[in-house]
Amino acid sequence: MAVLTVGTSKQLRGQVTVPGDKSISHRAVMLAALAEGSSRIENFLFSDDCLQTAACMRKLGINVEWEDGVVWVEGRGLDGLSEPEDILDAGNSGTTIRLLSGILAGQNFTSVLTGDASLRRRPMGRITKPLKLMGADIMGRQSGNLAPLAIAGGNLKPIAYQTEVASAQVKSAVLLAGLFCDGWTEVVEPAKSRDHTEIMLQAFGVPIDVDGLKVRVKGGHAPSPCSLVVPGDLSSAAFLMVAGCIVPDSRIEIHNVGLNPTRSGIIDILTSMGAKITVTNRRESMGEPVGDLIVESSELSGVAIGGELVVRAIDEIPVAAAAACLAEGVTVIRDAEELKVKESNRIAAIAGELRKLGAEIEELPDGLRITGGKALAGAVVDSRGDHRIALALAVIGLAAEGQTRIMGAECLAVSYPGFPQTLAQLGGVVIASE
Ligand code: S3P
Repeated sequence: MAVLTVGTSKQLRGQVTVPGDKSISHRAVMLAALAEGSSRIENFLFSDDCLQTAACMRKLGINVEWEDGVVWVEGRGLDGLSEPEDILDAGNSGTTIRLLSGILAGQNFTSVLTGDASLRRRPMGRITKPLKLMGADIMGRQSGNLAPLAIAGGNLKPIAYQTEVASAQVKSAVLLAGLFCDGWTEVVEPAKSRDHTEIMLQAFGVPIDVDGLKVRVKGGHAPSPCSLVVPGDLSSAAFLMVAGCIVPDSRIEIHNVGLNPTRSGIIDILTSMGAKITVTNRRESMGEPVGDLIVESSELSGVAIGGELVVRAIDEIPVAAAAACLAEGVTVIRDAEELKVKESNRIAAIAGELRKLGAEIEELPDGLRITGGKALAGAVVDSRGDHRIALALAVIGLAAEGQTRIMGAECLAVSYPGFPQTLAQLGGVVIASE
């Protein structure tokens, strides 16, 4: 088991970049595989999750190669995938299994998808339900709610589907299946989830229509090959942002970060807590907003977080909770039930582990109540196999008294393999990364 040990840090200073966006990297390989011809992907995230997607596409007969950090995908068109000889393994990645299920629902062959113990506990009914409505034959444990999933696809018909939760993975699974239908497939969400699939479909030249919470895609159009540059991952930058706020005397510049408004809730949350965050050099890359961030040490205050802000910061709630432990006053997080079905139950995980450092934090049915400003002391904590929990604990460890040992730190490789090195580069006290 890997252990990451961090210690009280005096300051964090410097300029860094963060690795490529995880959500966008997955989508880039999948859409490139369905394009007719060769696509080039720069700044792809070489982390466990995205490599799992690349491995699945290879098992489906697609040539995916990389050289000098650039990924090349030899797309074979909408009918170009071939039946895999073996089970497709999505590892820890919800995005891999759910988006790929949408693509596999459109294939005239049978495939079996599975993942690690965490992924096999996560709800799949939310994607198997609409994909079955479109005509796919899907079997899985608990009537198709749990992986492994066996998908016999083909002959799909378009649907208009109202999702029960705001989930980009559900929306994307239906839209990708829609590529294999005649006519328009429609998805309406209760709140707007990340829209990288929509933006990328447009970049690949697929007819797509967005009207508020309603998205429609026209089937039968193979994506045209593309050259893409993946922006830095705001979800990874979030850990450095909180670190920069809570470690005294800090000033960090984080360059080339994706700033898609469906993802930027953490900037709004931290700013409302009093964080000194400046966005500079705003630009656009293939429809995705990008910019640089400057973060400085800040006096934080407690806030109320709920509603659509939670959707726009869904992966950042654990690190926002860590920040709240060092804020003056009370922070209440509501409407965050979805956190219970992520890589771990993130409400229970972050509350339980932050308490070990001395934080005052109460679990609510749909969130957390945190009383900030308590003295925090380093402790032995457990990632619970969840990368975002490990990263949030490493960040708070920088501001706690003494050493914090994060057990099960190998899961950092899921989204941010180089995190300990970047922390050390900024002057953070990284005692050991074993
Ligand atoms: C993702 C969507 C979100 C997010 C996950 C990545 C994506 O999940 O939590 O880390 O790439 O589409 P949900 O769609 O389940 O909210």
